[in-house]
Amino acid sequence: MTITFVCTGNTCRSPMAEAVARRLVDVHGLREHGNRVVVRSAGVAALPGSPASLGARRATAAADLRLDAHRSLRLTERLIAESDVIACMGRGHAAVALEMEGGAKVRLLRDEEGRELEVADPFGGRQEEYDRTFRELEVRVGGLLAGLFTEGFARPGKGASYVVLGNPVAHSLSPAIHNAAFRRAGRRAVYWARPTRSAECGTVLRAVALAGGGGNVTVPLKEEAVASLEIASRAVAATGACNTFWAEDGVVHGDNTDVEGFLGTWRGALEGLRLPAAPDVLVVGAGGAARAVLYALLNFGLAKRIDLWNRTSGRAQRLVEHFARVTPPDRLSGHRLRAVDSWEGAAPDVVVNATSVGIDGEGLPLDLHGLASPPRVLIDLVYGKETTPLVRKALALGISARDGREMLVRQAEASYRCWFGEDPPAGVMSAALPQTRH
Ligand code: ATR
Repeated sequence: MTITFVCTGNTCRSPMAEAVARRLVDVHGLREHGNRVVVRSAGVAALPGSPASLGARRATAAADLRLDAHRSLRLTERLIAESDVIACMGRGHAAVALEMEGGAKVRLLRDEEGRELEVADPFGGRQEEYDRTFRELEVRVGGLLAGLFTEGFARPGKGASYVVLGNPVAHSLSPAIHNAAFRRAGRRAVYWARPTRSAECGTVLRAVALAGGGGNVTVPLKEEAVASLEIASRAVAATGACNTFWAEDGVVHGDNTDVEGFLGTWRGALEGLRLPAAPDVLVVGAGGAARAVLYALLNFGLAKRIDLWNRTSGRAQRLVEHFARVTPPDRLSGHRLRAVDSWEGAAPDVVVNATSVGIDGEGLPLDLHGLASPPRVLIDLVYGKETTPLVRKALALGISARDGREMLVRQAEASYRCWFGEDPPAGVMSAALPQTRH
């Protein structure tokens, strides 16, 4: 099979896509079953023989890929005729390929949600634009190759697939950080984001795990993923939420590494601050993330008093009743976990935001001014391209605050340990996170 990536001048997008595809063909062992797989790139207005742009070379080098030997190729009818798949970066390129009789071979690279959107052209832009396009291409080219398996073009080889299942998953940074760790550790594995409907969650989870891979589960599937496990960890059993899965000897296992992720974040956030050994905590939210937070606070004796507030108060009440049932009495005594109708007038030492408010860069789950006194620490489990609104507000009030990026990395490192029984290469995951804009 021959896959040709097409852009304009063949100095940025399509060479980066080609480099990503070559590596994926390799890690997936696509050539192992006697498949002939050729990957190349061409431009509709390329000056043949031009080198890859500096921005593209830097972006790929950061992912241990090299474009130094790349020389551009002009798209011709002959190249089109020799190709089985012509993956275009934009509609204009697809139109040219269609004029050259590309027919049904011509397609736009789809984004994580399956939409045929153009890939942004970073040409002449800042390095971070090249880096962003590169990350985008990693996801899209991964999706293209995965699609080819199901279309019967190729059979997957030995490389294992890891996926994050959820909806939406477009904002997920998990593919970037896990693929960086896989590459550094030299693993034959690839991590994808897969938008997943509730009805197919169990089938996909078990199929991926039993094929020798694994993955993560995110909003809103963490609770229903539990039903697909044969062996659930203590954290899964107690929280009723699973965010990590894999299989051993044909048996599907699940864990909730958000607990470990939160524990690490908590310790880091409180370190060096003169706070009581067991402070008073206000937890906002009563979804899957709140379950991991409450489990950690209760089972590790981290808090003296825990107030739980949620927009829908019945859900907070049910969560309190749930933890009263599943928490060993010796762990519960001394902690006063209660659902509260209002956060106004509360005076917690630490506030934890476990709602999804702020995920789109807007909104506050509570008004910090409405508390009787400002907390010392704010932990926002939300993260985004920019500092979250809640963290921004807290910092302006002089409160020590951190967003969910640390928890993301710590839960990802714990997931890696579940899958491979060893630590991921140190520091690689956090280094792979894009910089937050302030
Ligand atoms: P997760 O697994 O990330 O916790 P979830 O189970 O969907 O996701 O829970 C989302 C949490 O964010 C819930 O506590 C939800 O409150 P409700 O139970 O009232 O739905 C909270 N949340 C979402 N949008 C909110 C908003 N606009 N204001 C306040 N809370 C909100």
